[in-house]
Amino acid sequence: MSPFLLTRTLPEDATGAALRADVLHGLTRTPKTLPPKWFYDARGSELFEEITALPEYYPTRAEREILRARAPEIASATGARTLVELGSGSSEKTHLLLAALPELASYVPVDVSESALRGAGESLAAERPGLDVHAMVADFTGGLTLPETPGPRLVAFLGGTIGNLLPAERSVFLASVRGLLAPGDALLLGTDLVKEEAVLVRAYDDAAGVTAAFNKNVLAVVNRELGADFDPDSFDHVALWDAENEWIEMRLRARSPLTVKIPELDLVVRFAAGEEVRTEVSAKFRQGRVRSELSAARLELTHWWTDTAGRFALSLATAV
Ligand code: SAH
Ligand code: TRP
Repeated sequence: MSPFLLTRTLPEDATGAALRADVLHGLTRTPKTLPPKWFYDARGSELFEEITALPEYYPTRAEREILRARAPEIASATGARTLVELGSGSSEKTHLLLAALPELASYVPVDVSESALRGAGESLAAERPGLDVHAMVADFTGGLTLPETPGPRLVAFLGGTIGNLLPAERSVFLASVRGLLAPGDALLLGTDLVKEEAVLVRAYDDAAGVTAAFNKNVLAVVNRELGADFDPDSFDHVALWDAENEWIEMRLRARSPLTVKIPELDLVVRFAAGEEVRTEVSAKFRQGRVRSELSAARLELTHWWTDTAGRFALSLATAV
């Protein structure tokens, strides 16, 4: 069994304070919003794992296909001895990278979901004796301080999660990732690609209703943490394609006029019938945009791989 260490970079109450600030800000403005990181409590992380296996949700399978084909090239191009993974979740696809990196000394999964980190970290440490697994409960948008581990360093950000950041947030985020890298270190980035609208919408509005349950889970989190009385059944899950911004937008739409009490915030929130809360965007990319956003952060795109159906891309970029 390898060492498994879990660090919380946030004081115990920081999550609660951040949630209160986000909910207060998001539900008192027009249009209403809730930020996506609050989907991922233990139940939310479980629901996301179910999403990754849905017939309509192709990104996970497409990215796995690319990793399976390209892991040896990623290993030889980077020579990584430390792999840092942001938003690692279950680390399910990471096994393919680890298998191709026999020289790897250290794996640092970073996620806001402690339950996901524990499950993933323990299974990896058991599978790979000698690998130092240092899990971090942390917000990847919040200025990370990484443990001292051997270089070269490879930062992986998979699953298309970068698309859940708005363009302005992405540029701040990519600059902070660049700050984690020395010249010659690398970033491995998964991005979902622009494609036919119907395929995209189905991926975020599946027939079994798992994505709807995932979207509504944010209401359960606010109920539990802030004592609110959201009735998830009073909201419809909405997924729509914004062709101008080239992103999928997820919303929760009130079925009728509603009043919700949030005692911990001393707040009463009113919804008109049909009023929506924006919970998440999922941007879809083209190669030019990926290349230019990376380059603005002094990251040079060196490899661009897609699955055979051309649905999803994995980029490798070097810090310059
Ligand atoms: N990488 C996995 C999981 C993607 S889902 C995959 O490709 O399947 C997004 C993951 O990012 C979740 O595990 C979620 O808990 C985590 N996450 C979302 N926002 C985060 C943030 N701001 N900081 C750290 N982790 C975050
Ligand atoms: N990173 C994932 C994506 O954008 C997250 C995700 C998948 C998601 N399905 C969702 C977020 C449904 C909110 C609702 O593809």
